[in-house]
Amino acid sequence: MRQITYRIQRFDGVKSFEQEYSFPHQAGKTILWGLIAIKETLDPTLAFTAACRSAVCGACAVRINGQAFLACETPLDGILDRFGDVLTIEPIQNFKVIRDLVVDWEPKARRLAEAKTWLAPKDEFTAREGCRQAAADFKKITGQINCILCGACASECSKLSANADDFLDPFTYSKVWKFIADTRDKSAKERIKAIVDKGLWKCMHCVECATKCPKGLMPNMDISRLRQLSIKMGYTDNPGARHALAFLQDVEATGRLNETKLSVRSMGLLGAMTKFPFALRLVRRGKLNPLHCSGKVKGHEQIAAILKAVRESER
Ligand code: SF4
Ligand code: SF4
Ligand code: FES
Repeated sequence: MRQITYRIQRFDGVKSFEQEYSFPHQAGKTILWGLIAIKETLDPTLAFTAACRSAVCGACAVRINGQAFLACETPLDGILDRFGDVLTIEPIQNFKVIRDLVVDWEPKARRLAEAKTWLAPKDEFTAREGCRQAAADFKKITGQINCILCGACASECSKLSANADDFLDPFTYSKVWKFIADTRDKSAKERIKAIVDKGLWKCMHCVECATKCPKGLMPNMDISRLRQLSIKMGYTDNPGARHALAFLQDVEATGRLNETKLSVRSMGLLGAMTKFPFALRLVRRGKLNPLHCSGKVKGHEQIAAILKAVRESER
């Protein structure tokens, strides 16, 4: 009979170690089925979380061969076809591990709470009448409402892996956007003000959050929406917004970037000077030419026409 192996990254509260479990393959099962089979037949000490088994509770996200998946909805056969009969299973990344595949959601929940991810009803609503909403307005936020807080986006987020101190979890930005886009909510301005100082401009655009979300959410796009709105609301006194505006100015004026001036306009002269050693390395490798004189690119009128069309579509 065909045997498959889960090579599981375990943690007993003190030390991490890898343990292999081999068991008979069954067609048409899920990754979670394999974990349950191990616990029921091979090792009752293996710890993992799962509840609904229907992609609703978000409890069962794990990493399989280096990528986050929802164990209860991921077909085992598809994964075996893709990776072979030996799978490496680890807890999701960018979370503190409590035991084996069980991670600690408390710090994440605290960060969610700091971002005030709950409805602030407009004054026209009463406790008696509730907060009614037209179906068309509700449809605008149904994507973000589908977030099941599985943590897959946070697990694969490049920015969180690099430094989680100055950046929130991707799902938190999506939730903030959801409340801003909710026609019943009155706190858009406060929400934007709070989020600008919580890493809004630090996303690295790796798009891992969107590619790994089992519900098809795109936290990276919600971050872009939050950024655009922050500029519209006048929160432009920060390096991220200044960079975006200088970038747009260059493209509009000449169709190309003046990278030497771009860093000065984004970070100010002093800030740009701290990047001098990096710029020097770029010059040495021929990636940056400080003498580069940026005239208009050929076909600049077409770029200007595209920008004009975008602006008109946004009105
Ligand atoms: S696009 Fe941004 S938020 Fe999404 S995973 Fe990458 S760094 Fe994180
Ligand atoms: S945005 Fe998607 S991946 Fe992230 S927690 Fe919500 S459902 Fe999971
Ligand atoms: S067990 Fe609930 S989402 Fe997988």
